[in-house]
Amino acid sequence: MNGAVGPARTVFVLTGAGISAESGLGTFRDAGGAWTRLDPMKVATPEAFAADPVLVHDFYNGRRRDALAAKPNAAHVALARLETGLAEQGGRLFLCTQNVDDLHERAGSRRVVHMHGELLKARCTACGTAFAWQDDLGLETPCPHCGRRGEMRPDVVWFGEMPMHLDTIDEALAEADLFVAVGTSGAVYPAAGYVAQARAFGIPTLALNLEAADNAGMFEATRLGPASRTVPAWVEEILGGRA
Ligand code: APR
Repeated sequence: MNGAVGPARTVFVLTGAGISAESGLGTFRDAGGAWTRLDPMKVATPEAFAADPVLVHDFYNGRRRDALAAKPNAAHVALARLETGLAEQGGRLFLCTQNVDDLHERAGSRRVVHMHGELLKARCTACGTAFAWQDDLGLETPCPHCGRRGEMRPDVVWFGEMPMHLDTIDEALAEADLFVAVGTSGAVYPAAGYVAQARAFGIPTLALNLEAADNAGMFEATRLGPASRTVPAWVEEILGGRA
C-alpha cells in the first residue's frame, strides 16, 4: 500500500499574510495591518527606496527581525505535512506564497515559491547578486560580492515591480486539480487573479480565511476561521481522501 486513498492529487495552495498572523506577524489590510498605519507607496516601491532608503531599510529591518523571532504555527505545519502526504500518495503540492517570511520553510515545507521575494534574502543593485541575509541592511552595508556600499536592498518585490516565478506558477496552476487560498485578502494581482484562472481551467476552488476576502465570490467553497484551525482540518480531509 503506498498510502494512496483514491487518485493522486495535484494541489495548488496560495498563502497570504493571514497564515502568519497567528505566528505574530502582522497582516497588511486587516485592522491594525501595516498598510492601515503606513502608506505602502512610502516604504514599498522602488521610488520610495530611491527617495528615502533609510526609511525603507528601517521598515524592512523591523519586519526581518520580527520574522526571525516568529515561529511557524499549526497551519504552516499542516501544509508541510500535506506536501509529504501527497507525495507519498503519488501526488504533489505546489505551495505558492505571497509572504516574505520563512515560516513555511521552518515548518518543514521543502518547496516554497515566494512570488513576492524573501525578507531573509538581500540583493545588490549594482552587481545583481542575491544572498541569504539575516542582519539589518543599511546604506553602509557592503555587497559581499562586489564590495560596493549603498547598493544592497531587501530581495522582496515592491509595488510596481514584477512578481517572481510567474511562469512556474502559471504552469503549476494549469496542472492542478484543486486550488486553495489561505489567509489572503485577494486585493493584489496577479495572486488575486489565480482563483479566476483556476475556475477557467475547471479546477475546484476553496478559500480558508478569517473573513470573506475581496474575491470571495470567485471561490466555490469558503471556510471561515483562523488558519491554525481550518488548515489542519482540511489537510486531514485531503490526506484521508475525504475532500
Ligand atoms: N487565519 C486566516 N486568515 C486570516 C487570519 C488568520 N488567523 N488573520 C487574518 N486573515 C486574513 C484576513 O481576513 C485577510 O483576508 O488574511 C488576509 C490578509 O490580507 P492582507 O493583509 O491583504 O494580506 P495579503 O492578502 O497577503 O496581501 C497580499 O499585498 O501588500 C502586499 O506584498 C504584500 O504579499 C502582500 C500582498
